Amino acid sequence: MKRILVATDGSEHALTAAQLAAELAAGMGAELHVLAVAYRDRSDEEELRDFAKIEHLGGMLNVIGEIAKSHAEQARRQVETQGIKTVKVSVAEGDPTEEILAFIQKNTIDAVVVGRRGRSRVAGLLLGSVSQKLATLAPCIVIICP
Ligand SMILES: Nc1ncnc2c1ncn2[C@@H]1O[C@H](COP(=O)(O)OP(=O)(O)O)[C@@H](O)[C@H]1O
Ligand SMILES: [Mg+2]
Repeated sequence: MKRILVATDGSEHALTAAQLAAELAAGMGAELHVLAVAYRDRSDEEELRDFAKIEHLGGMLNVIGEIAKSHAEQARRQVETQGIKTVKVSVAEGDPTEEILAFIQKNTIDAVVVGRRGRSRVAGLLLGSVSQKLATLAPCIVIICP
């Protein structure tokens, strides 16, 4: 296994995934990538709009981009404390599943690690929609952390 990707939305689950991804990358001598996809979450929208006004950032996209960046950096710190020093951090924008799939193809990722759930926590679902879609659609190994 040469290249491992952890996808993060900043949730506790994603941080658990980052921890496992770091262990796998270290154990296998694989390259480790972190990807956070900036997207609009309905539950965040109002809060984001207020934040955007206050910061005069000229709209939502900048704000959600900054949030995704902070999620990616949080995952970087997590894997660095586990001894990984060469992690490659990326931020994309758009539909999370589509962007993660595109990243996997572009970077010929061998395994993607995600959390079972993310930040939206829709009651009743055992798996989040992103992890569910990846399990079906990804052209690589998919590891879903509990
Ligand atoms: N925007 C995103 N960018 C990168 N990874 C994501 C994103 N959203 C979800 N993920 C990954 O997918 C996992 C499951 O999240 P998701 O399927 O969205 O569940 P939920 O519906 O509970 O939010 C997360 O723990 C994370 O690893
Ligand atoms: Mg989600």
